[in-house]
Amino acid sequence: MSRKLSVARAAYLIGVPRGVLQRMVHAGELHADDGLIDLEELQRLFPSVSPEEAGALERVQAIREEAFGKRVRERLLPSQEVLAQRLFAQSRELTEMRGMTQSYHRLVVEVRRRVEALGGEDGSLRPLAEFIDRELAQLLGEESSVPLETMAAMLEVISAQVTVRPSGHQFLLEGNESILQAGLKSGLRFSYGCSSGNCGLCKARLISGELRQIQQAEYRLSELERQQGYTLLCAHTAVSDVVIETLEASGPQDIPQQDIVCSVRAIGELAPGTRLLHLQTPRSNRLRFLAGQSVTLGVATPHGDAQQAFALASCPCDERNLHIHVGRRQDGPVTALLFDGQLKANSAVNVRGPTGDFVVDADSARPALFVACDTGFGPVKSLIEHLIASEQAEVFALYWLATGADGHYLANQCRAWEAAFDNFSFTALSDEDAGAGAGRAVDALRSAHADLARCDCFVAGPAQFVETARGALIAAGATAAQLRTLVL
Ligand code: FES
Repeated sequence: MSRKLSVARAAYLIGVPRGVLQRMVHAGELHADDGLIDLEELQRLFPSVSPEEAGALERVQAIREEAFGKRVRERLLPSQEVLAQRLFAQSRELTEMRGMTQSYHRLVVEVRRRVEALGGEDGSLRPLAEFIDRELAQLLGEESSVPLETMAAMLEVISAQVTVRPSGHQFLLEGNESILQAGLKSGLRFSYGCSSGNCGLCKARLISGELRQIQQAEYRLSELERQQGYTLLCAHTAVSDVVIETLEASGPQDIPQQDIVCSVRAIGELAPGTRLLHLQTPRSNRLRFLAGQSVTLGVATPHGDAQQAFALASCPCDERNLHIHVGRRQDGPVTALLFDGQLKANSAVNVRGPTGDFVVDADSARPALFVACDTGFGPVKSLIEHLIASEQAEVFALYWLATGADGHYLANQCRAWEAAFDNFSFTALSDEDAGAGAGRAVDALRSAHADLARCDCFVAGPAQFVETARGALIAAGATAAQLRTLVL
């Protein structure tokens, strides 16, 4: 009997995005029984994947990681204890299967013996006896009927699968990640606060499976909560495949307003007139936000607080790191402090927010089209990283207009995405006139995506650009409810 795998695990195994297998299931090209895929069928459809090519899986993973641009790229094995527990579970399963196989073998040999005894006189049962002999000889001669089996077993040792109820979302947890970390990296919108066991906001109920605590937790669950199976997602990793029950944010209305004092980790030059402001939240207070949202930065100066709103360019999957792309042309007191050199590494910055609905609808699988101008690329980058993490969109495409000398300051990043994801395309456009450029961007988009009514469209940039692009998209058939805009 062939092994069954969840879609998440099967996709990981053969190195394709989960969405590719989901689309094959919907199209009837791949059979899924209760969400589980048969390993033999997977092998038939992806014959080039074999244990000898396990390195290919790692290469694909490495390309995706690189394209994602994560700073935290730990791909560590789980701790010795977790590995030992998983190996123990595998050995137990192996022993049980060996016992069953031996029993079946004994049974078949006995059936063969009885067939021989019954069919001795007229030879009428001889074809059946020969069939059993043939099949037995073939089975004994086969080393493994499914080459992927070895890789699948290995995957079960180095990772655990987490299923979330009631949403049904699934993700894999690797190394010593907490369930919270792994869920956020997979684009899930879990509730959390400190991510260090102090606030209790990541409380969730364990339905099945085994957890292991990986960090001390100050927050105390009540006796009743413990009896009901509640646990802290930030303080535990999964030893076996687990099912948990927790609510996920459905939109900006579910994200609370926060005030967090962060420090400037670094200020980088993306282009002569564009800076990368890299903030870091304290270890015990991580900002909860949705990809594409904005925050207001407050910086204390001798003349009072300087405040200015900015769109975030990183995604919530990026742990404590908050990135903002600041163009010299984005007028405001914080921009001035940044370009004057008064805001520097280690400065304290108050982050208030998040705000805005420039976000992807939860679970929308519609093609996502992005139209950005200059630093409008920042919030779009946040959204694209979220879509990569969640593997939510079937297709996503970026049209980026540059109006000045700073150009497409992260074009390499966009090309890396294009190389790593078959379903992503990048078009670079240049025009000094933001209005005319917006028209050209939408024209290019329309020629590649005819049916805009079934797409989600996102437009970010200066007011003139956003206004023109919005009008052109609506005129071309985009639906207002599926169109999000952000003026910088
Ligand atoms: S206890 Fe605060 S996020 Fe887990």
